[in-house]
Amino acid sequence: MRIRTGVLGFDDLVQGGLVGGRVYIIAGPPGSGKTTFGIQFLIQGAKEGERGLYVTLTEDPKNILQDMSSFSFNLKKYALAGMVLFVDMGPLSIQDFGGLKDRSGIKETYAEEVFKKISAIVRAKGIKRLVIDSVITLKFGSGNEEEQNREIARFFRSLKDLKTTTLILSEMTDLTNYSPEHYLAHGVIFLHNFMNGNNMTRALQIIKMRGTRHDCDMHRMEITSEGIRVYPTKV
Ligand SMILES: Nc1ncnc2c1ncn2[C@@H]1O[C@H](COP(=O)(O)OP(=O)(O)OP(=O)(O)O)[C@@H](O)[C@H]1O
Ligand SMILES: [Mg+2]
Repeated sequence: MRIRTGVLGFDDLVQGGLVGGRVYIIAGPPGSGKTTFGIQFLIQGAKEGERGLYVTLTEDPKNILQDMSSFSFNLKKYALAGMVLFVDMGPLSIQDFGGLKDRSGIKETYAEEVFKKISAIVRAKGIKRLVIDSVITLKFGSGNEEEQNREIARFFRSLKDLKTTTLILSEMTDLTNYSPEHYLAHGVIFLHNFMNGNNMTRALQIIKMRGTRHDCDMHRMEITSEGIRVYPTKV
């Protein structure tokens, strides 16, 4: 059975929704709709009785709640009902981690620490849908690039074992420069916003979605007071 995302028009592009229990990347430049996509996904879950968790690594959850209040999907209601939970793991990164942390001989990386905390909440609260905003800080924890890649690979592997349906938001501005996480994810969705003459054009593109029939074209996308809406038409 497919997992409905709650993003209007999106599920029709991917045979009815996402395959559950997998890890997906939502990548895009600033303001392209990554957070909105993630929140719509969690609200859809809440409507279906599935509890969701939004993990912030770079932002205070209060700001997310405030920004999302301009939409009509009423995030606050689901947050107050305990169906969409927020956890701020940002402070971990800056104060506690200047790389590897030594704890009585056991070296634990930032990504491992984040995963442990997520995993505890997922188990305690019965989380079915997970959004991680965003992947960029997970890379700061380790030293060289090779080490970072290994750490990200381990993090993805652990997330897959969690069995939640997970969206990882990724600030990607150079859409030709694929990072390791794009290979590790089951699916990769790009959100575009670019100037077309004097107008800002938004588009959504499914770069990959394992086990799913889809096209790779850029579909017209809008952000309205109802949230993101994707159209079958191409840009
Ligand atoms: N009520 C609304 N109606 C229409 N568009 C809106 C509304 N509220 C926000 N937007 C648009 O949605 C965009 C916000 O998208 P969102 O915060 O999801 O992007 P993001 O990719 O997460 O950005 P960042 O990289 O900065 O975190 C805003 O920049 C604005 O253009
Ligand atoms: Mg955001």
